[in-house]
Formats: sequence, structure tokens, C-alpha cells
Amino acid sequence: MSDSEATLSEKETTWHRDIGSVQSLAELNELRVKYLGKKGILSNELRAIGSVAADQRKAFGEQVNEARKRLEERLDGMLRLLQQKALAAELHREPVDVTLPGLPRSRGHRHPVSQAMDDIIEIFARLGFTVADGPELEWDLYNFEMLAIPPDHPARDMQDTFYVDMSTAPPPPPGSPPPRGAQSSLLLRTHTSPVQARTLLAQKPPVRIIAPGKVYRCDSDVTHTPMFHQVECLHVEAGLSMAHLRGTLDAFVKGFFGAGTKTRLRPSYFPFTEPSAEVDISHPACEGKGCRLCKNTGWLEVLGAGMVNPDVLKMAGYDPEEVSGYAFGLGIDRLALLRHGIDDLRALFENDVRFLQQL
Ligand code: PHE
Repeated sequence: MSDSEATLSEKETTWHRDIGSVQSLAELNELRVKYLGKKGILSNELRAIGSVAADQRKAFGEQVNEARKRLEERLDGMLRLLQQKALAAELHREPVDVTLPGLPRSRGHRHPVSQAMDDIIEIFARLGFTVADGPELEWDLYNFEMLAIPPDHPARDMQDTFYVDMSTAPPPPPGSPPPRGAQSSLLLRTHTSPVQARTLLAQKPPVRIIAPGKVYRCDSDVTHTPMFHQVECLHVEAGLSMAHLRGTLDAFVKGFFGAGTKTRLRPSYFPFTEPSAEVDISHPACEGKGCRLCKNTGWLEVLGAGMVNPDVLKMAGYDPEEVSGYAFGLGIDRLALLRHGIDDLRALFENDVRFLQQL
């Protein structure tokens, strides 16, 4: 019987047998093209549909398509088999030496800012402070109003603020009571001080907390990044004075930079503290002698501080006749830089491992 006279199923038997005797991936590929290619045998078979009686055409077409499907499956099956064989041969040729040493894995470490944060938390824990937390997406109420900074207060200009477009704002974050009336705009907190307001509302004196975290300001240059880190410290109790503030600051600075570090307070202004101070430390790198980094003064400004404004205590429902408090807020990133003698803040957040590995 010649090939042209053979029935489709007879031809199919031959094709499948041929596929079964293939020895290499290249041969298999040739067969795939030969059978299934555009100009291949099956396309050819289908072309014969023209000479089939009209009422038989549908059945004929289906037969050819099914034969094509079976061929595809057979080719795929053979492909897997050949691949397995190749892999087995490979493994046989190069047996795995299980006694070889493993690949070295490089270990990561904590980011310098996280290291500094951990150290700060530890120092304050020894002084009896616990860690409090607050959201980074904050209500105007807690970021400003409850800190004695009403709308239109000029002190708002001290902190370039990212506001949330309230026309497209999502519903309030869970766990944040929506504040009353006009104070309901949302922003990225510009400092950790809103945690003062939240803590005063949630606790009773004595209150003794620190609140580390991320804060945001619309600022970017060598000494400013739009996101940075602060730690807030708040202590409210009967009988606290400026002396307690100085004592705590001194203990912290000595704990962090070493026993020889000195602090000095300069008068300043914050709406939520009265009196207020900027706090400088003697430059640890030059031991207060003066160098390029501290502009030859020997001092570095590291934090803002003061006695909690009685209005802030009143707003939170405390009686300023009974309790008083001190608070301060410090930038962690600058402390981390100072420790390592780095002068570009942005390097901390560029995530270049070569930089981070040196710390
Ligand atoms: N929140 C102030 C700032 O970011 C710092 C500060 C905190 C000042 C607490 C006084 C008391 O500038």
C-alpha cells in the first residue's frame, strides 16, 4: 500500500513510531517541524479536505485535528523523556561531591539608625522610661492643635508639612478616633511630639515614655531628608523641674556618646514647652576642642527641649497645679552620623550596601 493510499490512522502509527525512535533533542525538533510546521504533513493532510464529500468534511477536519493533538502530546512526552535522560547522564558524568564546603553566605546587620535607636531605647529603659508609639499618618489635632499650635499659628512655618488631600483621603486609620470639627485634616507627622498628646490622653501621671519613629518634612539637602527619625521623651509627674530635664539629658548623652560628653542649654521657643531650650552637646569627635564638622565651636545642636506648657497639660485633662513635666525631641539620624563621623545624611537612606557594610 503506498503512502498516499494509507488511511490517516495507519499514517499516524508510523509517525508515532518514528517519534519513539528519536535519539536527540535536535532530531525531535526536526520531527516537530516536519509534522506540525506550517508546511508540515498535517497541514498538508488538512488541505485534502477539498476532495472530501461536503457532508464528510466536518468529521474529516475533526479527525485530522485529533491526530494533531495526539502528535503534540507524543512529541511533548518524548521531549520530557529526552531531557530526563540528558540530566541523568549529566549527573552520572559529574557526580555531586557532598564533602565540598558550602557557598559562603554574607551576613547582614542592623542599619545604623536602627542600632542607634536600640541603644537609645536601652539607655532610657535603664532610667525607667517605656516605649510608646503613634501613627505616622497623623491628625492635625495631635500633631499641632493639642501641642498649643492652633491653625494659623506662625509656629506651623517651622515645620514644612506634607498634608493629605482630604478630598481623596481614605477613611480614618483604624484605632484613631476622628477628631472633632475643623481639626480633622490628616498629615504626615512632622515630629514625634503628637505621641505626647496621645499618651497624655491615654495614661494617668506619672507618665514616663519615649517614642521613637519616622517623621516627615518637605525638606531635602545635605543635612535634611524628607523622612527622618526622632525620639520623643516625655516625663509628667508631681514636682518636676528644669533640674530633672537636665539630669535626664545628661544621663542620656553620657550613655550614648561617653562619660566625657557635656550638654548645654540655650533659650529657644517651642509652643508646647515653656520655657524652651535648644540642647547642644560637646562634639565627641574633637572632644569639644572645635573642628570643621562643628564649625570650630566645639558644640553640636542635637535636640529641642523644655518644660511641658501648662496649656498642653490642661488640654489633656491634667491639672498643671498638681503635675508638671519636661519633654524633648531628638533627631536620631544625626546622632547615628555623629557616632560614625559621616557628614552626608542622605547616605543613610541610599541603601548602598558598600556604605552600610562599613558601619
Ligand atoms: N518636636 C520638636 C521638633 O521636632 C522638638 C521638641 C520636642 C521640642 C519636645 C521640645 C519638646 O522640633
